Amino acid sequence: MNKRRLLMKSIALSLFLFFTFSFSTAAQSDVSNKVDYSRDVIYQIVTDRFYDGDSTNNPSGNIYSSDCSNLHKYCGGDWQGIIDKIDDGYLTGLGITALWISQPVENVYALHPSGYTSYHGYWARDYKKTNPYYGDFNDFDRLIETAHANNIKVIVDFTPNHSSPALETDPSYAENGAIYDNGTLLGSYSNDPLNIFHHNGGTDFSSYEDSIYRNLYDLADYNLHNDTMDQYLKDSIKLWLDKGIDGIRVDAVKHMPEGWQTSLMSEIYAYEPVFTFGEWFLGSGEIDPQNHHFANESGMSLLDFQFGQSIRDVLKDGSSDWYDFHEMIDSSAVDYNEVIDQVTFIDNHDMSRFSEEASSNRHTDIALAVLLTSRGVPTIYYGTEQYLTGDSDPDNRKPLTNFDTSTNAYQITSQLTSLRQSNPALGYGDTNERWINSDVYIYERKFGNNVVVTAVNRGHESYNITNLNTSLPEGGYNDELNTLLDGANITVSSNSSVDSFNLSPRAVSVWQYTESSTTPLIGHVGPMVGKAGNTVTINGEGFGTEEGTVQLGSSTVEIQSWSDTEIEILLPNINPGKHDITVNTANNNSSNSYNDFELLTGKQITMRFVVNNAFTTLGSNVYIVGNVSELGNWNPDEAIGPMFNQVVYEYPSWYYDISVPANESIEFKFIKKDAVGNVEWESGINHSVTTPHDGTDTVIVDWQQ
Ligand code: NOJ
Ligand code: NOJ
Ligand code: CA
Repeated sequence: MNKRRLLMKSIALSLFLFFTFSFSTAAQSDVSNKVDYSRDVIYQIVTDRFYDGDSTNNPSGNIYSSDCSNLHKYCGGDWQGIIDKIDDGYLTGLGITALWISQPVENVYALHPSGYTSYHGYWARDYKKTNPYYGDFNDFDRLIETAHANNIKVIVDFTPNHSSPALETDPSYAENGAIYDNGTLLGSYSNDPLNIFHHNGGTDFSSYEDSIYRNLYDLADYNLHNDTMDQYLKDSIKLWLDKGIDGIRVDAVKHMPEGWQTSLMSEIYAYEPVFTFGEWFLGSGEIDPQNHHFANESGMSLLDFQFGQSIRDVLKDGSSDWYDFHEMIDSSAVDYNEVIDQVTFIDNHDMSRFSEEASSNRHTDIALAVLLTSRGVPTIYYGTEQYLTGDSDPDNRKPLTNFDTSTNAYQITSQLTSLRQSNPALGYGDTNERWINSDVYIYERKFGNNVVVTAVNRGHESYNITNLNTSLPEGGYNDELNTLLDGANITVSSNSSVDSFNLSPRAVSVWQYTESSTTPLIGHVGPMVGKAGNTVTINGEGFGTEEGTVQLGSSTVEIQSWSDTEIEILLPNINPGKHDITVNTANNNSSNSYNDFELLTGKQITMRFVVNNAFTTLGSNVYIVGNVSELGNWNPDEAIGPMFNQVVYEYPSWYYDISVPANESIEFKFIKKDAVGNVEWESGINHSVTTPHDGTDTVIVDWQQ
């Protein structure tokens, strides 16, 4: 961002802060903070299916179903429809503070040979144009303005993995994957002179590498190691950042090289930092260390499929119980460096809807209450508040026809979204189990003196709860859900024990206590990676109104803004790598340390490292390590890999795409690690390469015997 934009932004920000905070005292969503979503609630909209606010932009011909009886076709929903539902109070009354909308870019117009269309927005044609059936750029601007005026953030979906359906052998299949840069054809799948696509066939999902370098179904897969594509996608997302978006949901992150995505994130964080989360699908019970690694190292968060599948197992299918759920809560808090940044949900457009025609709505209500009081950024899929049903795509994407604000689900959401705003324990707190059996789960979220306790009984019998201890101070507590789910009021005595009470069948109770800390407490830092000169935002409480200092590792950093709950810092030019962050108040109180902020060596580009003739024995793999922090600073434990050896290059060649500093002379070596971690170094002198200023590059060397 240039200085003038920064100045304009800070003037706008001060005016905004003045008007917001001079008239209200209650904490509320702050759309000027685009990096901390932990206290927000996201509402996921399939734009075409939410509300048709402008029938003049509806498609005509064979891709349109005017009564939406064919759910594979466009049904008319648009950005005007979302604006209308903000203006009429439906979305504001629900209390949600962010919208995740379908990818806004122009999509293919063709009817897919199987009768499908691009109504969902995942089949891009030109990222620098709008999907005309959702609206034009004016409509998009008005959507952003309307949302922001109502303290609602806007997140767009983004598909940098592929363009659209294509068949190498048949140019007339759909639109042949053709992709345009603001009207100029860049290439199509069967006519690809710039080499912007992979031509390696479809993936059988047999390995991580196979899923990355081959097509996902029939979708024309981008070659992200191509300067044109790299530049085009990075420029495209900047165009939407310039339009004022507040967040990005990245499609199919498991199907793209992590290195390229890391370089994308560093570009975004240097330009306009916004919360970004990727979609890495996991099935029920699936735990994938690569998924944790990606969430911890790529610079973006993930949709929390472990949470989503687990809550479905306990409350929808009944295939597991609260012990299993709590185990997921405990292990994920360790596996994810920032578990509060992972995006939680109970269903979405790629799985069966939580509500079922055959069963009562109560299980949806219970699940919503747990979702909204748990760690992570909760997302509600449009229509859940109206108990929409539908088993699989496209039945789980039916149009919303009811906008009833009196449903239990609507009311529960409204109560708990405002609790997330007023009590920071829900956004920043740890989770502690306080009472558990297979039916009952009582858990506490705590941040400083702020406490929220949730008690849920999924069973059909009532439980008398004795011996419950919490951090709630002595006193009486009313159910924050106003007995919408048959909750109880409780009394806490001086020794923090809760007087015994009955937890009714299928009941949820929420009790809370709010008290700000007088000493500094960091709840969130965003983003957790960046290069010197970037802005990073620290949220929490007790920072004081007078400016103190912030330490990054052992360095004191430059402060850009300071308030009791939010500090903006400028990243200094110190030694790259991981550093902890601490806040010190003007009267010399020190905060907790927020660990492992990653300071990059500099601007990032993607480099493909290739080593030939690296023979290994079964169970051994090749990794790369080098003299920059992005390559592990010569520490074999931090080496990057295991490298790939099947698709782009084949064994005994190994390759890997890695985000490394631009315009830098880098030294590196390859190592072999066996199954138990024994390391064998290459002999000879270090390899070296000078990385480009921009774009991508490849370096190929021989393994030194
Ligand atoms: C995952 C999306 O959520 C899904 O709906 C889409 O079809 C695929 N990625 C391909 O873009
Ligand atoms: C340790 C490795 O053994 C060696 O090969 C490499 O050159 C150095 N690290 C670089 O400092
Ligand atoms: Ca329309």
